[in-house]
Amino acid sequence: MTTTSSATDAAIEHHLDETRDARIESLKELLRIPSISSLPEHAEDCRATAEWIAADLRRVGIENVAVEETIGNPVVYGDWLHADGAPTVLVYCHYDVQPVDPLDLWDSPPFEPVVVGGNMLARGAADDKGQIHLHLRALEALFTIRGSLPVNVRFVFEGNEESTALPLEGWLETHRERLDADFVVISDTGFFEGNLPAITISLRGMMYAQIDVIGSDLDLHSGSYGGVVDNPANVLTRILTALKGPDGRVLIPGFYDDVVALTDDERSQLDGLPFDEEALRDSIGVPALAGESGFGVLERKGARPTFDINGMWAGFQGTGAKTIIPGHAHAKVSCRLVAAQDPDRVFAALKAFVEEIAPRTVHISVNRIGGGRPHITSVDHPATRAAARALEATFGRAPVYIREGGSIPVCASFAEKLDLPVVLMGFSQPDDHAHAPNEWMDLANYETGIRAVIRMWDEVAALDRASLR
Ligand code: BES
Ligand code: MN
Ligand code: MN
Repeated sequence: MTTTSSATDAAIEHHLDETRDARIESLKELLRIPSISSLPEHAEDCRATAEWIAADLRRVGIENVAVEETIGNPVVYGDWLHADGAPTVLVYCHYDVQPVDPLDLWDSPPFEPVVVGGNMLARGAADDKGQIHLHLRALEALFTIRGSLPVNVRFVFEGNEESTALPLEGWLETHRERLDADFVVISDTGFFEGNLPAITISLRGMMYAQIDVIGSDLDLHSGSYGGVVDNPANVLTRILTALKGPDGRVLIPGFYDDVVALTDDERSQLDGLPFDEEALRDSIGVPALAGESGFGVLERKGARPTFDINGMWAGFQGTGAKTIIPGHAHAKVSCRLVAAQDPDRVFAALKAFVEEIAPRTVHISVNRIGGGRPHITSVDHPATRAAARALEATFGRAPVYIREGGSIPVCASFAEKLDLPVVLMGFSQPDDHAHAPNEWMDLANYETGIRAVIRMWDEVAALDRASLR
């Protein structure tokens, strides 16, 4: 396939050169708004972020821009549909961010962005506001220099990806007319170890639940009642231990029933990636890696399901001793899921098993908190190949194809409910401290990412629309 213009023509490159400082200031402005979606006290900040993005979309030349209500934070929508005959791309990113605790582990305050050693340091710099911002700058460069875009675009930026994907799901149901496109580009993933350009070809799904074990209403004196009643904390640990063996196998009956194993070809593709296990271990700082026996690290992270305890609490947490039998014990647990596991079925299996093994001496409840379906995208789709060419032209190296362990719940909704192919093209680095203190975005990736998006739109414009469906 030939392209209609060079990677980024000289005029665009000149424009990008001249506007670099202003763009970094603008990125900082976006990063200063603390759009934490899981904390209700930041709802107004999420709205302000949506308004900031909407104003920027309007300013660069996107039309029909709207900040739309949902049952959660607003969705930002905008489109530009004047590239007659060219494909239409739906671009998705999220503007909400994770909470920032523990604050004392940040080198600088999370919402006071600073550039350190070529990296932008701030909550959301990589996941995912930096990636929204680079899309906006690609649009701005194209409108400024060419006065138009080579493709039709629709933008959907959501504000609840990091908390629960539900608000967007509802919005998608009721706004199908705005989602009419040939395919979706999601920029919420990143590159491979060593900052190798990458296209993500699969994401894991998720089933999240809380297990509560209730004994007495109030804590009991452990001398007067020890040996007489069951201890909810002990019961909870017995239950949790029964859910996963020391070999990493999940013991919930039926858990693996729907898991599709990698083919030999897929496994050798993974084995061919330039991956250094020792370097990963060092970067995490653990004495040794662990996981389901019989599978390599990349397969365990990208193509095998997990069960993990995300939090647990019971009884006395203060200094010193307090001799009680706690009345309650609780755990937050989740499973990362792979194709073709279904979060509803996995939750039902978990609940049934926990209720079966729980003793009659306590009350048990198992409640669903959230989840999403796993997703696999096609390596051969013309849009994926266009993304690969755009990355190679701008980053100077053909991308590798990777399987990510993380989840983007809406990805499966685009594919399954709206029947849209998805291309996962993101620009962050694998050790970017997403969700952790000192999140950072490599500004070289951000800058080249702008050029890659421009090149991608040119590549897509050259595609035959009929080949996309
Ligand atoms: N951007 C991530 C997803 C991701 C993680 C992609 C790692 C590639 C590599 C996204 O913002 C995220 O954190 N998703 C949550 C979803 C959950 C709240 C349902 C996740 O994976 O924990
Ligand atoms: Mn994200
Ligand atoms: Mn995230």
